[in-house]
Amino acid sequence: MSIIIQPVNATLGATVTNVDLSRLDDDDWSAVKDAFLEYGVLIFPGQHLTADAQLEFAKRFGDIEVLVEGMTTIPISNKDEHGEVFGGDSHRMQLLKGNEGWHTDSSYMPLSAKASVLSAHVLPSTGGETEWADMRAAYDALDESTKKQLDGLNAHHSFFYSQAKIGHQVEVGAGYGFFDGEPPLYPLVKVHPETGRRALYIGRHIKSIPGMGDDAAQTLVAELTAFACQPPRTLLHSWQAGDVIVWDNRCLLHRARPYDTHQERVMMHTRIKGDPRTETALNA
Ligand code: OGA
Ligand code: MN
Repeated sequence: MSIIIQPVNATLGATVTNVDLSRLDDDDWSAVKDAFLEYGVLIFPGQHLTADAQLEFAKRFGDIEVLVEGMTTIPISNKDEHGEVFGGDSHRMQLLKGNEGWHTDSSYMPLSAKASVLSAHVLPSTGGETEWADMRAAYDALDESTKKQLDGLNAHHSFFYSQAKIGHQVEVGAGYGFFDGEPPLYPLVKVHPETGRRALYIGRHIKSIPGMGDDAAQTLVAELTAFACQPPRTLLHSWQAGDVIVWDNRCLLHRARPYDTHQERVMMHTRIKGDPRTETALNA
């Protein structure tokens, strides 16, 4: 039997079964690729991929973004090298906490991300879901005057700024994503390079909007986010170990949901680079 693509009851998302991602043939890949562009987030239950197989699957979507030197697939984990769960205010826990705010991956980089692949390995007994929101449907649902207001507006995205907002002061040179210089500038409305659909390009990394005061900019982004991230435009996934999910960072927001951080949560993340022609910051 062939691949089954079952849309979720929302404006985004589909569950994909009857396929082995470690042995994708051309027909399956073609179906996955089309579904990715249509649904934005694809859930593949029970894949149990090795890190290598996850990397190979991610490479189907494009070149890999290297987040930690020498690593193409990185743990999103609250467990340290010694197997201990790390503490509530450690640098690494603050980075994980940051993921609980609505964001799109690498919008704070001069080349924003195309897609991300995430898989679940060890899960807390409750909580720790991941949620996505459809910024295409959100843009479509805006009234005409808001669409006009956003037309031509751009925003600076900064990881220093978004972490500072949750009380995490990061030193210059702290690692990937934290760099000196003017934060990358992206349009507030992104035209999808493959589908041509417009989508809000927002999230917690937005620091400022040229031409607007900072308070007004933060109010605008907060209002857009509150409006956008509501049913039927959201999808919450409660993970089972072995699940693999891929999403399109060009038109969705996502966030991690809270859990008891004394419990272990280990996910593996592979990020796919944006196309330099369409995901390069305006000021890069
Ligand atoms: C990520 C991310 C959310 C989660 O890996 O980019 O935001 O639920 N993860 O761990
Ligand atoms: Mn993320």
